[in-house]
Amino acid sequence: MITYCPDLPSWQRLRASPDWAGRRIGFVPTMGALHAGHAALLARARAENDRVVLSIFVNPTQFNDPADLAKYPRTLEADLDLARPFADAVFAPPAEAMYPDGYRYQVTENDLSTRGEGLHRPGHFEGVLTVVLKLFQIVRPDRAYFGEKDWQQLQLVRGMVDAFFLPLTVVPCPTVRDPDGVALSSRNRRLSPAARARLAHFPALLRRAANAAEAAAQLREEGFEVDYVDDRDRHRIGAIRLEGVRLIDHFPVEPAPAVEPEPRDAL
Ligand code: PAF
Repeated sequence: MITYCPDLPSWQRLRASPDWAGRRIGFVPTMGALHAGHAALLARARAENDRVVLSIFVNPTQFNDPADLAKYPRTLEADLDLARPFADAVFAPPAEAMYPDGYRYQVTENDLSTRGEGLHRPGHFEGVLTVVLKLFQIVRPDRAYFGEKDWQQLQLVRGMVDAFFLPLTVVPCPTVRDPDGVALSSRNRRLSPAARARLAHFPALLRRAANAAEAAAQLREEGFEVDYVDDRDRHRIGAIRLEGVRLIDHFPVEPAPAVEPEPRDAL
């Protein structure tokens, strides 16, 4: 049976109950609008822990564009249905409950967060890291599950856990894709059927191109508005816009083959 906690006190009561004492707790933080990618995270958490907590919180501080926040799908009933087979508790607090400080306190990272998404969405990663730290403090999980599609987010959360000695393990989970290769995202549902069909070129070109510049050029040729493609540490991340919807993806990339030195003429 799933317990729905719409505020902090109801969650804290459940977390302190004898039934949760000494249990291994798996945590899947989300902003709702759940899909099969979230179900995969929840299924993994279910398999590896005694108790599973899902949070649903559309975090206002990670949206640099108010229109994007307003359009973010809210589908609580469907989310609860999807979570039911996997989760023991759903924590879905109101915004005020998460920001009693009025967002005066923030977590800042000053390297990876300045590239890619961070460059194009000022303040995004401060919002993500701050809310994730708060959620970790409130939920106190043993393991937290994050999808690899949001590669920068995953790396930054891992870095924060190390930097602040947080007593939990971050578990990276493979991106779940539709048969045409498109990564599942709650944003996909905002596309027209024609745009959704075209979107299959995004992962295909992002993965195949020899380098980031080539991927960006090919995506532009295909008619996508490209925010960035960035290669770092053998991983490629990219963001495009289609019908005004911003979509991101990630692939590991092979290192470029070493260039053989030209044979020198025998002396
Ligand atoms: O990936 C998400 O859904 C969000 O960025 C997260 C981790 C739930 C923080 O709001």
